[in-house]
Amino acid sequence: MSQTNAALIERKNQAVARGVGLAHPHFIESAKNATLIDVEGREFIDFAGGIAVLNTGHLHPSVVAAVTEQLEKLTHTCFMVLGYEPYVEVCEKINALAPGEYEKKSALFTTGAEAVENAIKIARAHTGRTGVIAFGAGYHGRTMATLALTGKVAPYSSGMGLMPGDVYRALFPCEMHGVSVEDALASIQRIFKFDAEPCDIAAIILEPVQGEGGFYVAPKSFMKALRDLCDEHGIVLIADEVQTGAGRTGTFFAMEQMGVSADITTFAKSIAGGFPLSGIVGKAQSWIRLIQVVLVEPTVVARLPVLLP
Ligand SMILES: Cc1ncc(COP(=O)(O)O)c(C=O)c1O
Repeated sequence: MSQTNAALIERKNQAVARGVGLAHPHFIESAKNATLIDVEGREFIDFAGGIAVLNTGHLHPSVVAAVTEQLEKLTHTCFMVLGYEPYVEVCEKINALAPGEYEKKSALFTTGAEAVENAIKIARAHTGRTGVIAFGAGYHGRTMATLALTGKVAPYSSGMGLMPGDVYRALFPCEMHGVSVEDALASIQRIFKFDAEPCDIAAIILEPVQGEGGFYVAPKSFMKALRDLCDEHGIVLIADEVQTGAGRTGTFFAMEQMGVSADITTFAKSIAGGFPLSGIVGKAQSWIRLIQVVLVEPTVVARLPVLLP
């Protein structure tokens, strides 16, 4: 045994910032399917899957083959500068898979939080409004903007001070905690009455099944009511499927089971079998301003004549 868990934990404590915790006192040497082998040669069954990042298991042969093939050709150009076909192919596939009876377009990013941030930017650019309604116990990431949406103080926003503004928190329906669909809808009406008018709200964002919050499924009747509310007030409905997507709930996207569709869907985690890829898919008609406002940074536009022949 060349390495021990104890020795590596000691090195980690010396070299890695304290905020990056370690839930289990093991360092993993290799993994295959659902089996992990630590540096001391002990075998474990992986029930964590990198927190829903490995629906395909570790080192799925198709994922490894696709990545290997790509690595022998090209790693990066910055797609907005020079294109490559796999980006387009992924978007085509996601457009075909995402629920919603409308023409779709997608954009790709790296992390779930980045996908959520871009969904919010699009909703703001599209509506010209700034407010966002998120839900208690919802989880949307740990960057500053997504932290403002994440509805759990400890351990996420505790000690972080003032969050980016114009986020309003509604109740997520959960019978187990005594919150009915009616209670949850009433909490949104209270926001409209006491905090922000519907015409100030750009988006309502929720997980179809709360993950970090405790694995609570949003009732179909609640989703339908949110869809109606968004249609009535021109609010963008965002389904954060970073955790529920990629087959996690039995269908490719959980919203397929909800009877209504969102305007924008975020995806990440298991979408790339353990590699960092995320994105958003949404109504094609909403993307014209997005392309102008969000994705093509002025600096990139300015550089284009220099970079292109
Ligand atoms: C629903 C949801 N949204 C967003 C995120 C943030 O994703 P990432 O950790 O890739 O930034 C997560 C991560 O757990 C998530 O579960």
